[in-house]
Amino acid sequence: MIDLINFVGLDIKFDENKCSLSFNEGVTEREPAVRTIEQMKEVLADESVSGPEELYYMYRNIHAIKDDAVIKQHKLRFDITIIKPDMLGNELMKTAGHYHPKSYPELYEVVYGEALCLQQRYNKNDFRKIEEVIVVRAKQGQKIVCLPHFGHILINSGNKPLITSNWVSSEFSSEYDLYKESKGAAYYAFSKDKNIEWSKNNFFTQVPDIAFLVPNDEIREFGLKTGVPMYSLIKDLKNIDFLNNPDKYRYNNVFKK
Ligand SMILES: [Fe+2]
Repeated sequence: MIDLINFVGLDIKFDENKCSLSFNEGVTEREPAVRTIEQMKEVLADESVSGPEELYYMYRNIHAIKDDAVIKQHKLRFDITIIKPDMLGNELMKTAGHYHPKSYPELYEVVYGEALCLQQRYNKNDFRKIEEVIVVRAKQGQKIVCLPHFGHILINSGNKPLITSNWVSSEFSSEYDLYKESKGAAYYAFSKDKNIEWSKNNFFTQVPDIAFLVPNDEIREFGLKTGVPMYSLIKDLKNIDFLNNPDKYRYNNVFKK
């Protein structure tokens, strides 16, 4: 069992063999939603890939029980996702991908393992035209802002489970349909000779080159610092007001090259 308290900021343990969480006293007890290969077929580079059966686990609405009211009052939710260390044929393990309605952003932290977050923005008149693609590479303790108007997928680029936590507005539901219709994100990440080969998704009529970025280690506007678990923002949730009021804020300091 791996103790996640110093990485999540909540008294939670991780069973690496079962890829599951256990919650100690004072923390909400949740069952995960499981994403299966069957549900993912449409977004895979190779639809015929048949395993593994379970890809990732989403524990939604996790928090200290005493914090329940303050989180609701700020219209937020804190989730944890565990993505297995496995392959989807030649493709790296990934999430299904979705957009958010309006311009709602999201805030991730890598709690364990390493992540690539592929974000894309499409042309409002033609969703087969992608205007911008960024890939954010993040390690344990680093924060990833999913930008307003961008859809996102997470990719497990390491050889152990990837665990992320995230803060997000509780006021919307994610939209998965466009990713299904387009057979996944603008690029597929294939494993080749221990490197990653990025291959454009032919569904799209326009796909720009990828801008590769890393998180800034301090994002003052939002009270974020690498290595400080972002659950600690519970003390002052005004820091992440951008999750419900995205248009009031600027995002030019969240990444660097
Ligand atoms: Fe999201």
